[in-house]
Amino acid sequence: MNSSFSAQNSSVTIDNADEVQISLRHVSKIFPGRSGWLNKITGQASSDFIAIEDINLDIEHNTFVSIIGPSGCGKSTLLNIIAGLSSATSGEVKINGQIVNKPGPDRGMVFQSYALMPWMTVEDNIKFAVETVYPKISVQQQQRIVKENIQLVGLTGAEKKRPHELSGGMRQRVGIARALAINPQILLMDEPFGALDALTRGFLQEEIERIWEQQRKTAIMITHSIDEALLLSDRIVMMTKGPAARIDEVLEVPFPRPRDRTKVEHHPAYLELKQEMEAHLYRETRAVEAARIKP
Ligand SMILES: Nc1ncnc2c1ncn2[C@@H]1O[C@H](COP(=O)(O)OP(=O)(O)OP(=O)(O)O)[C@@H](O)[C@H]1O
Ligand SMILES: [Mg+2]
Repeated sequence: MNSSFSAQNSSVTIDNADEVQISLRHVSKIFPGRSGWLNKITGQASSDFIAIEDINLDIEHNTFVSIIGPSGCGKSTLLNIIAGLSSATSGEVKINGQIVNKPGPDRGMVFQSYALMPWMTVEDNIKFAVETVYPKISVQQQQRIVKENIQLVGLTGAEKKRPHELSGGMRQRVGIARALAINPQILLMDEPFGALDALTRGFLQEEIERIWEQQRKTAIMITHSIDEALLLSDRIVMMTKGPAARIDEVLEVPFPRPRDRTKVEHHPAYLELKQEMEAHLYRETRAVEAARIKP
């Protein structure tokens, strides 16, 4: 199809180095198996597991990229490597030309499980991140940043609540505000709306689109939702099933911005892209099932 470009040999790389912000080269991750004698005699031994293999990808500044692929294929593994929370077994990730080997203030992460401090209020959760990343700024500046980001995600009035007093949607807003409050160049999101009901999810997707239009940060989001990926992304990275998952294809999403759901769904390319993604997910998920039932 003409709205996509194919990722031959799992590689989607760009020639102009100035445009590239995030570059992945030959990234593989092997989780070591359990081979000790105790594991052997207790029947717990396992061999090494190649989760992802030879991933090559370039992401330009201010681009919104989604990653989709069958469950367990290695999406979180890849995002955690980009976040610096986990290291690649081989290959390298560079951000603005610098090798990534630890987390940094240039990257804000939104976790599926919210990962909030349960004993802290909404504002303290956000303040904690700001203090950690910018220990030298004044208390007034910290307060201003916290307030602005609470406002940005629509949580004004809930500042003093603790996570257990919040709905799932509100918790996820805190997670988004916390990631944005450190003013990262890059926003990383691992199924940010996965735990939410359809209505809240749709609402938060629109919020992310609005915030993204304002800030235009480079964003990488893992999702299982085709419609979500089509609404928000400039590119959609489709991964194959694991083990040794790789990039199958990268779709270009041509819809004009700012986007709203109705306009996007009526765009002439929408159906073709949606069908291509459905076919990909169906094919890869079927292959996972076939591997599972193989004698
Ligand atoms: N620490 C670990 N040790 C061993 N294997 C792991 C570890 N973390 C992940 N894996 C394996 O690596 C593979 C990829 O896992 P990952 O969590 O990246 O998948 P995913 O695509 O994010 O899945 P999902 O869509 O279900 O979130 C899985 O088979 C998983 O069991
Ligand atoms: Mg995952």
